[in-house]
Amino acid sequence: MIRLNEHYSKLKASYLFADIAKRVSAYVAAHPDQPVIRLGIGDVTEPLPPVCIAALHAATDEMAHRATFKGYGPEQGYAFLREAIAQHDFTAKGAPVEADEIFVSDGSKCDVANIQEIFASDIRIAIPDPVYPVYVDTNVMAGRTGANADGRYSGLVYLDSTAANGYVPAPPAEPADLIYLCFPNNPTGAVATRAQLEAWVAYAKQHGALILFDAAYEAFIRTPGIPRSIYEIPGARDVAIEFRSFSKLAGFTGLRCAYTVVPKTLKARDAAGQEHSVHALWSRRHTTKFNGVSYPVQKAAASVYTPEGQAQTHALTEFYLGNAKLIREAMGKLGFACIGGDNAPYIWVNVQRDSWEFFDLLLNQAQVVVTPGAGFGKCGEGHVRISAFNSRANVETALARIASALR
Ligand code: MLT
Repeated sequence: MIRLNEHYSKLKASYLFADIAKRVSAYVAAHPDQPVIRLGIGDVTEPLPPVCIAALHAATDEMAHRATFKGYGPEQGYAFLREAIAQHDFTAKGAPVEADEIFVSDGSKCDVANIQEIFASDIRIAIPDPVYPVYVDTNVMAGRTGANADGRYSGLVYLDSTAANGYVPAPPAEPADLIYLCFPNNPTGAVATRAQLEAWVAYAKQHGALILFDAAYEAFIRTPGIPRSIYEIPGARDVAIEFRSFSKLAGFTGLRCAYTVVPKTLKARDAAGQEHSVHALWSRRHTTKFNGVSYPVQKAAASVYTPEGQAQTHALTEFYLGNAKLIREAMGKLGFACIGGDNAPYIWVNVQRDSWEFFDLLLNQAQVVVTPGAGFGKCGEGHVRISAFNSRANVETALARIASALR
């Protein structure tokens, strides 16, 4: 019989959101007359911006004619999209990135999961706690950790994100090779200041480390002065890869489009100490294992950078931030300390009790789904994450139900 990858046996039986979905399905099957409102997984609910719909229709029509039909596109993405991204998301904002440093993909989840495979298996990984579980699980699968004991894998450097540090961890005293950072943060909704990111870039330079900067929620930043990209920090091009997504910005969770920025200035060394271009390695990996995002979807993504697209996506993120404000105010009124929701679509609520118990209470008494903080790591215990992705009517109903369940 074939042998399996033993590292998988170290993982929890199922992925956090799959686990939640299973519990919710069981509840719905047992209580078909009690409609459940989902504020758990960060999945968008509002329709695509009209500019994206128009671009999808036009691109689909192009596919109907021999003269404009497209087969395989460039694996890294069409130039029209890469150039628009480089110009609008970076260069215009004082963080210069070249179009050929951008790799278009079908999702940041896949990119943050896959990037680790171009690095050695014995590197030391630093990961915040709480954290988006994909960063941890993919390193477990790759064999970079020992077993899980008491909610933590041996071999990882955990960066506690708690009320004591404002949920933004400082660089550790010990060296690490690969560091995962996510701002605005999933799950806490915290944002990092320029000074905090400068400290991380300085740490990476000092230790020859690489930062993986997940900026999937960048479009929700409203506080002036908060960096939108790690490349706003001088020197970051030598030490950081950045991940961005159209999922939450433009409602693409079902359409699928994201991108990863790998500066050509980034270097990694082999066992003999010889330098290699990280850009070339990622390009080799991407072109070997990926065949590109579909043409109509890339046209829809490019439409986000038109003036109408900018206005429509801003309105979309404003709408979800409006939900977030309602959630944060309502949970605050119920006596819970909360953070997030002002520059992020997530509210991190200190419920001061077992987070799965609180999840069960809200599911059973209010028919509202949230995400238990323990699912994001040991420091997430005692908290839940509430997602602002839903209709206004559902958010209002959910908050009224939570208030009456907890009364
Ligand atoms: C979340 O709920 O954390 C996100 O939706 C997960 C994701 O973007 O993959």
